[in-house]
Amino acid sequence: MKKALFLPVVSLALLLAAAGCRKAEPPAPVPEAVKGQPTMNIQKAPFGRLPDGANVDIYTLVNARGLKARIMTYGAILVSLDLPDRTGAFADCVLGYDSLDGYLKTTPYFGAIVGRYGNRIAKGSFSLEGKTYVLAVNDGKNHLHGGVKGFDKVIWTAEPFEEANGVGLKLGYLSKDGEEGYPGNLNVTVVYLLTNDDELRIDYEATTDKATPVNLTSHSYFNFTGGSRDVLTHEITLAADRYTPVDAGLIPTGKLDPVAGTPMDFTTPVAIGSRIDRVAGGYDHNYVLTSGGGAMALAARAVEPGSGRVMEVLTDQPGIQFYTGNFLDGTIAGKGGRAYGKHWGFCLETQHFPDSPNQPSFPTTILRPGDTYRTRTTFKFSVK
Ligand code: BGC
Repeated sequence: MKKALFLPVVSLALLLAAAGCRKAEPPAPVPEAVKGQPTMNIQKAPFGRLPDGANVDIYTLVNARGLKARIMTYGAILVSLDLPDRTGAFADCVLGYDSLDGYLKTTPYFGAIVGRYGNRIAKGSFSLEGKTYVLAVNDGKNHLHGGVKGFDKVIWTAEPFEEANGVGLKLGYLSKDGEEGYPGNLNVTVVYLLTNDDELRIDYEATTDKATPVNLTSHSYFNFTGGSRDVLTHEITLAADRYTPVDAGLIPTGKLDPVAGTPMDFTTPVAIGSRIDRVAGGYDHNYVLTSGGGAMALAARAVEPGSGRVMEVLTDQPGIQFYTGNFLDGTIAGKGGRAYGKHWGFCLETQHFPDSPNQPSFPTTILRPGDTYRTRTTFKFSVK
């Protein structure tokens, strides 16, 4: 970690100056950090404790261009993400809290890794290999985002690492057989990598000892104004010409409907707010990616015209949940005490389709012993 060199170099220079040796010495090379160039690095700090006394750490990842991602071991949560605008001014572009307390009190999954199953499973139940499993129910009659205590509310192990083109954090969690009603011990690894090409890459891996549904995703609420207003002027493009319509409980009907000619159509860039009043409640839908999943492909693009910030989402998953913070209502005081009102953030959650364990026509989400669940999503940031 180059940063560690910085202090000794400066102290040495000061010592030499104090000893009057300055004239005799050739000028010391200016460390990168002094020239105003950030140095790629990763640092760990304590972030608080859970009510049971367990320690939570936060890791700060900085790339060579100064982009900064902070990730904590509770929920593997992306706590902040500092991105430059077109003038080079940095701002934190994800919603959340300044301290651990907020995340412990109430959170609509701000920045979390969601699992064992992202989104809903109807009536918290599914059948697999002749057996019916009953899951924790936490959203009306349904199971949402892994249940009462999903992967967003547990402590993950963490190992920081550096590679040639970025810094990363490898997080691990063992979800025990029967947790929230799911079968099998599921060994999960999530690796965040912040590259010097301004990408935040997330690699998910899992293995099991009994067949189980698995659908992991990242639940960041983006706001490329830096969180200063709602996201209605952000322009979104989705590489999807169909979506999965839902019933009143947000459970897919099983159909795949075309987006053409409806307010659901984001095949060309459209401001979130331009047709949102024609979508009951706002956008909260799974889009069927045209790529079909399996190989990395561009799934979505978001542009914030004021700041020029751009995000591209690439994934090997077959779906993406486009959620426009419809349930934010101003009662949450987030970072800096700001009230997060309706549509203050949007999520682009790469995933398998909601309720797949009960929908035989959807691509399967069942992981079996001996197989490895492995998927990747990359968020690529730039300006225009
Ligand atoms: C779901 C929403 C839910 C939100 C926060 C999204 O992934 O689709 O229905 O309210 O997460 O819990």
